Amino acid sequence: MDIKQIFKNNIDWVNEKLQLDSNYFKTLSKGQNPDILYIGCSDSRVSAEELMGVSPGDVFVHRNIANMVPNTDLSAMSVIDYAVVHLKVNNIVVCGHYYCGGVKAAMESADLGILNPWLRNIRDVYRIHKEELNAITNQDAKYKRLVELNVQEQCINVIKTAEVQQAFIDRNITVHGWVFDIHTGKLIDLEIDFKKVMENVMEIYRLKR
Ligand code: CO
Repeated sequence: MDIKQIFKNNIDWVNEKLQLDSNYFKTLSKGQNPDILYIGCSDSRVSAEELMGVSPGDVFVHRNIANMVPNTDLSAMSVIDYAVVHLKVNNIVVCGHYYCGGVKAAMESADLGILNPWLRNIRDVYRIHKEELNAITNQDAKYKRLVELNVQEQCINVIKTAEVQQAFIDRNITVHGWVFDIHTGKLIDLEIDFKKVMENVMEIYRLKR
Protein backbone atom coordinates (compact mmCIF):
# COMPACT_ATOMS: atom_id res chain seq x y z
CA MET A 1 0.00 0.00 0.00
CA ASP A 2 1.18 3.50 -0.87
CA ILE A 3 1.69 5.36 2.40
CA LYS A 4 0.99 8.69 0.67
CA GLN A 5 -2.43 7.33 -0.29
CA ILE A 6 -3.28 7.00 3.39
CA PHE A 7 -2.93 10.77 3.86
CA LYS A 8 -5.18 11.33 0.84
CA ASN A 9 -7.69 8.90 2.33
CA ASN A 10 -7.50 10.79 5.61
CA ILE A 11 -8.39 14.11 3.95
CA ASP A 12 -11.34 12.43 2.19
CA TRP A 13 -12.49 11.05 5.54
CA VAL A 14 -12.18 14.44 7.28
CA ASN A 15 -14.21 16.08 4.51
CA GLU A 16 -16.84 13.35 4.64
CA LYS A 17 -17.28 13.79 8.39
CA LEU A 18 -17.40 17.59 8.15
CA GLN A 19 -20.02 17.45 5.42
CA LEU A 20 -22.33 15.51 7.72
CA ASP A 21 -21.51 17.60 10.80
CA SER A 22 -19.34 20.71 10.68
CA ASN A 23 -18.69 20.37 14.43
CA TYR A 24 -17.72 16.69 14.22
CA PHE A 25 -14.09 17.07 15.33
CA LYS A 26 -14.91 19.85 17.77
CA THR A 27 -17.30 17.47 19.52
CA LEU A 28 -14.84 14.57 19.27
CA SER A 29 -12.09 16.62 20.89
CA LYS A 30 -14.20 17.26 23.99
CA GLY A 31 -13.59 13.75 25.34
CA GLN A 32 -14.63 10.15 25.21
CA ASN A 33 -17.40 8.29 26.96
CA PRO A 34 -17.36 4.74 25.58
CA ASP A 35 -19.51 2.05 27.20
CA ILE A 36 -17.53 -0.90 25.84
CA LEU A 37 -13.96 -2.10 26.25
CA TYR A 38 -13.05 -4.37 23.31
CA ILE A 39 -10.05 -6.68 23.61
CA GLY A 40 -9.26 -8.31 20.27
CA CYS A 41 -6.55 -9.74 18.05
CA SER A 42 -4.08 -7.57 16.13
CA ASP A 43 -4.90 -9.55 12.96
CA SER A 44 -5.32 -7.05 10.09
CA ARG A 45 -8.52 -8.79 8.96
CA VAL A 46 -10.30 -8.30 12.29
CA SER A 47 -10.92 -4.56 12.27
CA ALA A 48 -12.69 -3.95 15.57
CA GLU A 49 -14.77 -0.86 14.84
CA GLU A 50 -15.69 -1.80 11.29
CA LEU A 51 -17.02 -5.26 12.11
CA MET A 52 -19.08 -3.85 15.00
CA GLY A 53 -20.37 -0.91 12.95
CA VAL A 54 -19.39 1.61 15.60
CA SER A 55 -18.03 5.14 15.37
CA PRO A 56 -15.04 6.91 16.92
CA GLY A 57 -15.78 7.44 20.61
CA ASP A 58 -17.99 4.35 20.99
CA VAL A 59 -15.48 1.67 21.98
CA PHE A 60 -12.20 1.63 23.93
CA VAL A 61 -9.95 -0.84 22.10
CA HIS A 62 -7.02 -3.03 23.06
CA ARG A 63 -5.47 -5.40 20.52
CA ASN A 64 -2.59 -7.83 20.71
CA ILE A 65 -1.62 -11.20 19.25
CA ALA A 66 -4.47 -13.65 19.91
CA ASN A 67 -6.51 -11.28 22.14
CA MET A 68 -4.71 -12.22 25.31
CA VAL A 69 -5.14 -10.88 28.85
CA PRO A 70 -2.00 -12.20 30.57
CA ASN A 71 -2.16 -11.61 34.33
CA THR A 72 1.13 -9.73 34.46
CA ASP A 73 0.88 -7.86 31.15
CA LEU A 74 1.14 -4.19 32.13
CA SER A 75 -0.38 -3.01 28.86
CA ALA A 76 -3.56 -5.13 29.12
CA MET A 77 -3.87 -4.45 32.86
CA SER A 78 -3.51 -0.68 32.34
CA VAL A 79 -6.14 -0.71 29.60
CA ILE A 80 -8.59 -2.59 31.86
CA ASP A 81 -7.88 -0.25 34.77
CA TYR A 82 -8.37 2.89 32.70
CA ALA A 83 -11.50 1.61 30.95
CA VAL A 84 -13.18 0.31 34.11
CA VAL A 85 -12.11 2.79 36.79
CA HIS A 86 -11.87 6.03 34.79
CA LEU A 87 -14.06 5.62 31.70
CA LYS A 88 -16.52 3.46 33.68
CA VAL A 89 -17.42 1.11 30.83
CA ASN A 90 -20.25 -1.29 31.62
CA ASN A 91 -19.26 -3.98 29.14
CA ILE A 92 -15.97 -5.72 28.42
CA VAL A 93 -15.67 -7.86 25.30
CA VAL A 94 -12.95 -10.39 24.58
CA CYS A 95 -13.22 -11.14 20.86
CA GLY A 96 -11.24 -13.96 19.28
CA HIS A 97 -11.41 -15.08 15.68
CA TYR A 98 -11.29 -18.41 13.86
CA TYR A 99 -8.05 -19.09 11.97
CA CYS A 100 -6.06 -16.96 14.42
CA GLY A 101 -2.35 -17.20 13.60
CA GLY A 102 -1.38 -16.86 17.26
CA VAL A 103 -3.59 -19.75 18.32
CA LYS A 104 -2.32 -21.82 15.38
CA ALA A 105 1.30 -21.16 16.36
CA ALA A 106 0.53 -22.24 19.93
CA MET A 107 -0.80 -25.57 18.60
CA GLU A 108 2.48 -26.23 16.82
CA SER A 109 5.89 -26.73 18.40
CA ALA A 110 8.12 -24.36 16.42
CA ASP A 111 10.55 -22.23 18.44
CA LEU A 112 9.46 -18.66 17.67
CA GLY A 113 11.89 -16.73 19.86
CA ILE A 114 10.40 -13.73 21.63
CA LEU A 115 6.92 -15.01 20.76
CA ASN A 116 7.45 -18.14 22.89
CA PRO A 117 6.43 -16.66 26.28
CA TRP A 118 3.39 -14.98 24.71
CA LEU A 119 2.27 -18.21 23.02
CA ARG A 120 2.85 -20.13 26.26
CA ASN A 121 -0.21 -18.34 27.63
CA ILE A 122 -2.26 -19.97 24.86
CA ARG A 123 -0.59 -23.33 25.53
CA ASP A 124 -1.73 -22.95 29.15
CA VAL A 125 -5.30 -22.71 27.83
CA TYR A 126 -4.71 -25.94 25.89
CA ARG A 127 -3.34 -27.62 29.03
CA ILE A 128 -6.37 -26.57 31.12
CA HIS A 129 -8.71 -28.01 28.47
CA LYS A 130 -6.47 -30.86 27.28
CA GLU A 131 -9.06 -33.60 27.73
CA GLU A 132 -11.72 -31.86 25.67
CA LEU A 133 -9.28 -30.76 22.95
CA ASN A 134 -7.46 -34.09 22.64
CA ALA A 135 -10.83 -35.82 22.15
CA ILE A 136 -11.46 -33.74 18.99
CA THR A 137 -9.95 -35.70 16.08
CA ASN A 138 -10.67 -33.16 13.34
CA GLN A 139 -7.77 -30.68 13.35
CA ASP A 140 -9.86 -27.81 12.04
CA ALA A 141 -12.53 -28.35 14.70
CA LYS A 142 -9.85 -28.57 17.39
CA TYR A 143 -8.28 -25.32 16.18
CA LYS A 144 -11.65 -23.56 16.27
CA ARG A 145 -12.44 -24.91 19.72
CA LEU A 146 -9.11 -23.68 21.09
CA VAL A 147 -9.95 -20.21 19.75
CA GLU A 148 -13.24 -20.35 21.71
CA LEU A 149 -11.66 -21.74 24.88
CA ASN A 150 -8.94 -19.09 24.69
CA VAL A 151 -11.62 -16.38 24.63
CA GLN A 152 -13.26 -18.02 27.64
CA GLU A 153 -10.00 -18.15 29.60
CA GLN A 154 -9.14 -14.53 28.75
CA CYS A 155 -12.61 -13.53 30.01
CA ILE A 156 -11.67 -15.26 33.27
CA ASN A 157 -8.43 -13.30 33.37
CA VAL A 158 -10.47 -10.11 33.00
CA ILE A 159 -12.77 -11.18 35.84
CA LYS A 160 -9.80 -11.90 38.12
CA THR A 161 -8.78 -8.24 38.19
CA ALA A 162 -9.60 -6.10 41.22
CA GLU A 163 -11.10 -3.38 39.02
CA VAL A 164 -13.64 -5.70 37.38
CA GLN A 165 -14.56 -7.38 40.69
CA GLN A 166 -15.26 -3.96 42.21
CA ALA A 167 -17.21 -2.76 39.15
CA PHE A 168 -19.31 -5.92 39.32
CA ILE A 169 -20.28 -5.09 42.91
CA ASP A 170 -20.82 -1.39 42.17
CA ARG A 171 -22.64 -1.47 38.84
CA ASN A 172 -22.96 -5.02 37.51
CA ILE A 173 -20.31 -4.73 34.82
CA THR A 174 -20.59 -7.58 32.26
CA VAL A 175 -17.88 -9.54 30.47
CA HIS A 176 -18.69 -11.02 27.04
CA GLY A 177 -16.84 -13.65 25.01
CA TRP A 178 -17.19 -13.37 21.24
CA VAL A 179 -15.64 -14.98 18.17
CA PHE A 180 -15.42 -13.33 14.75
CA ASP A 181 -15.97 -15.93 12.03
CA ILE A 182 -13.70 -14.83 9.19
CA HIS A 183 -15.48 -17.20 6.74
CA THR A 184 -18.86 -15.51 7.12
CA GLY A 185 -18.00 -12.13 8.63
CA LYS A 186 -20.38 -12.84 11.50
CA LEU A 187 -19.83 -12.22 15.18
CA ILE A 188 -20.67 -15.19 17.38
CA ASP A 189 -21.59 -14.65 21.02
CA LEU A 190 -20.16 -17.60 22.98
CA GLU A 191 -22.83 -16.83 25.58
CA ILE A 192 -20.48 -17.37 28.47
CA ASP A 193 -22.54 -17.52 31.65
CA PHE A 194 -20.72 -14.56 33.18
CA LYS A 195 -22.34 -14.74 36.61
CA LYS A 196 -21.65 -18.49 36.90
CA VAL A 197 -18.01 -18.02 35.85
CA MET A 198 -17.75 -15.14 38.29
CA GLU A 199 -19.02 -17.31 41.17
CA ASN A 200 -16.62 -20.11 40.19
CA VAL A 201 -13.48 -18.02 39.98
CA MET A 202 -14.34 -15.93 43.02
CA GLU A 203 -13.70 -18.89 45.30
CA ILE A 204 -10.02 -18.52 44.44
CA TYR A 205 -9.56 -14.96 43.17
CA ARG A 206 -11.89 -12.88 45.36
CA LEU A 207 -10.21 -9.76 46.71
CA LYS A 208 -11.21 -8.26 50.03
CA ARG A 209 -12.41 -4.68 49.80
CO1 CO B 1 -5.50 -13.64 15.62
